[in-house]
Amino acid sequence: MSTEGTVRAVTTLRLQEMKRRGEKIAMLTAYDYSMAKILDGAGIDVILVGDSAANVMAGYETTLPITLDQMIYHAQSVTRGAKRALVVVDLPFGTYQGNSKQALDSAIRIMKESQADAIKLEGGEEILESVQRILCAGIPVMGHLGLTPQSIHKFGTYTVRAKEEAEAAKLIHDAHLLEEAGCFALVIEKVPAALAARVASEVNIPIIGIGAGSGVDGQVLVSYDMLGITGDFSPRFLRRYAELGNEMRNAFSHYIEDVKSQHFPNEKEEY
Ligand code: KIV
Repeated sequence: MSTEGTVRAVTTLRLQEMKRRGEKIAMLTAYDYSMAKILDGAGIDVILVGDSAANVMAGYETTLPITLDQMIYHAQSVTRGAKRALVVVDLPFGTYQGNSKQALDSAIRIMKESQADAIKLEGGEEILESVQRILCAGIPVMGHLGLTPQSIHKFGTYTVRAKEEAEAAKLIHDAHLLEEAGCFALVIEKVPAALAARVASEVNIPIIGIGAGSGVDGQVLVSYDMLGITGDFSPRFLRRYAELGNEMRNAFSHYIEDVKSQHFPNEKEEY
């Protein structure tokens, strides 16, 4: 829902029609009003208020520290800027793994307090009961399989997941379970392209890939990464569409120079 209470143009059903038509889905992250407004105006299909906010907004090493209140603050800012795109919000670490009641309470808080359209959570069979309970409350759920950053301490590394037969088989099994439970889409992160393509062909809900190749139904990137603002992060799957980090540094240096040399402000810039 938008801030006016009307349904946004991109709905979960529309994403499923896009999959049926073979139209690819474009998704990016946003954490604030201004970025959401620009993304929405550019025609993005889905805006993810990702818990990657913990990394790019707050400077944490992992996504674990961000809280539900902080995610709700980011989500509120984004939904004010998004009139068209579907807005999906991550349930942060520790707000749904305890039990399905805790998961439902967290999802309800996000939906009630932020005007978002859907929530996303990480994991397969182990969180199935929570997924089902959230769906029973009428809240659309996006799943997230493959590299699930909230489990980084279990994995011990951010390298490609599901290269081995057993992990690949579990991922396929989990994707089917989440589809049967009623998830409207899944993110699949950093797995071999052939595996992601196989999942996309076996399930009827959209598969949005990140580092999962081109055989899926859509792509997602962290906006700060693809804009070149987080310059120190350059995995193989990341394409930089701009070098805004350099542009910003140049603009800041120019401003500092102008202030010091008294070239800013000039007569036209004063009252
Ligand atoms: O938090 C996030 O930004 C995500 C994407 C990487 C899919 O979950």
